[in-house]
Amino acid sequence: MTDFFPENPVAVLCSGGDAPGMNAFLRALVRLGLNRHNVPVLGIKDGYRGLVKAARQAGASPVELQQLKDAIVRNPGRKGMIENQPVVLMDHASVSGIMGKGGTVLGSARCKEFEKREVRAEVIALLGALGVRALVVVGGDGSLAGARCLAEESGLRIIGVPATIDNDLQFTELSLGVDTAVHTLVWAVDHFIDTARSHRRVMVLETMGRESGDLARMAALASGAEMVITPEGGPLDAAQIEKLAHRIEEAMIRGRGHAIVLLAEGVKFDPPQNRNGAYVLKDAFQKYFDRTEGAFSDLEVRPSVLGHLQRGGHATPQDCILAARFAEKAWKSLLDPDCGNGITALRENRVALVPFDCPDMPERASATRAMDDLHEALSFW
Ligand code: F6P
Repeated sequence: MTDFFPENPVAVLCSGGDAPGMNAFLRALVRLGLNRHNVPVLGIKDGYRGLVKAARQAGASPVELQQLKDAIVRNPGRKGMIENQPVVLMDHASVSGIMGKGGTVLGSARCKEFEKREVRAEVIALLGALGVRALVVVGGDGSLAGARCLAEESGLRIIGVPATIDNDLQFTELSLGVDTAVHTLVWAVDHFIDTARSHRRVMVLETMGRESGDLARMAALASGAEMVITPEGGPLDAAQIEKLAHRIEEAMIRGRGHAIVLLAEGVKFDPPQNRNGAYVLKDAFQKYFDRTEGAFSDLEVRPSVLGHLQRGGHATPQDCILAARFAEKAWKSLLDPDCGNGITALRENRVALVPFDCPDMPERASATRAMDDLHEALSFW
């Protein structure tokens, strides 16, 4: 690498909840920068939080700024990462062997402070002082909202890249990490089925997904889970819960031995509950099956909150491929003087750059309904 601070580099950060595929994206972005475009890439550690930290350090005086620049040149790649430098000049070695690895080698964080305009102004000043020509932000809803603010408040070129296991970004058919999280859930359901079958049990498994039920619904379709409950269906009251339990009971009368119920974490209850939904539903189901006139009074229900297991693990080939395609689009967009700021998105299986204020794709809502109908038809037994 060079002895001089790179001229007009591109900077990249990962923000918010980590998602499998972030590392594949970093690798593709750095390699395309070095191999195809001859533009160096600066990696920002720990998302916006790292950027704010660096801005405070370097903003203190011209001497501090120079020290940061010197450190970036002195400790490129893995050396800079080991030194825990907030900004690292990415070389080939720094992205070698990371393709499928879960998480992100740059680290990620949620940063409330970044919601303040004056804090973003500090960051804009730092990016200007480093001569950064474009910033690439990889993350979910909140992270892309931060990127949009930066785009509006600075003259910088800003490109967002959707990465979240929730699949709740409605301007793209898929975000990075979704395919891997669905795979992980299918794997988890397979494990729970063994016990459910052996003990003739009902398993209530709570998935992540925030306000969206997409992760649960995709995992239900791919795993064959008997039932999926998502926030899009509205809050669950006692009568609805009884109906669901009744459906399971009827299936068992017809000969079904067990049931896997996927419950998205965003599902609300009426009246509201302050426990995880899996426990609420488990108690209500158990009460239903325990009733004296019930057909299966010895039927046991077990809850499980799957939690962060869903965010980790080796990224699937699909996620790695999507990461490479998003990286290629990011480069094309940021090097094209006629192209504005925006977010890479998958639309009709093509990668496009959509504006930050892009409306939701109506196809997403109809795809959700279609998936629900399909699951309904496939899960009747
Ligand atoms: O957005 C990704 C996600 O994993 C959500 O599904 C979940 O609600 C949330 O992040 C958990 O956040 P944290 O890791 O901060 O607990």
